[in-house]
Amino acid sequence: MDAKNVIIYSSVDGQTLKICNKLVEEFKHSNKEVALYSIDDFTENINNYDKIIIGASIRYGVHNKSIIDFINKNKEQLDTKKTVFFSVNLVARKPEKNRADTNPYVIKFFQNIDWKPTIVEVFAGKLDYQKYPFFDRIMIQFIMWMTKGPTDSKSKIEYTNWDKVAAFGKQLCKM
Ligand SMILES: Cc1cc2nc3c(=O)[nH]c(=O)nc-3n(C[C@H](O)[C@H](O)[C@H](O)COP(=O)(O)O)c2cc1C
Repeated sequence: MDAKNVIIYSSVDGQTLKICNKLVEEFKHSNKEVALYSIDDFTENINNYDKIIIGASIRYGVHNKSIIDFINKNKEQLDTKKTVFFSVNLVARKPEKNRADTNPYVIKFFQNIDWKPTIVEVFAGKLDYQKYPFFDRIMIQFIMWMTKGPTDSKSKIEYTNWDKVAAFGKQLCKM
């Protein structure tokens, strides 16, 4: 019987979800099924699945608390399965910070959680100042200024490398 796959994500402005949708496409190309759930809608028992892929974006330095709670709550079961974690953030737009072992948020995440997924990946997200409420815009402009990124409030840049996402999707189908 085919392995049962699920992607569980947390996305605020939709970029992590867009990446998940690309992964779903890759599963379809490989004639494999995969379920897709927002963390807020996932009520199933994870034992219904063999391969669990978790994706979350960074906001103010951290991944969504529901994702962290979910991992902590299901740790024992997760350790018996093939698991994947990927993070989406803007710091990953920098080539020297776009790998699991070089992205500061991913490094910190795994220093604070007792979980070792089979595969860990990181993708650059999207910057869209016009979409952010005033306070967030000012904060992101500040973060961007600190990290030598664009600060023009009209900037709308998708940094996600879709070839990297597609290759990751293929890797997930084969694992
Ligand atoms: C309020 C806010 C805070 C953010 N904080 C960070 C941050 O601390 N570090 C970072 O690299 N990216 C940060 N980002 C960028 C997001 O991670 C990026 O836009 C990502 O694409 C969002 O994915 P999502 O749409 O799936 O939530 C922030 C974005 C917003 C709107």
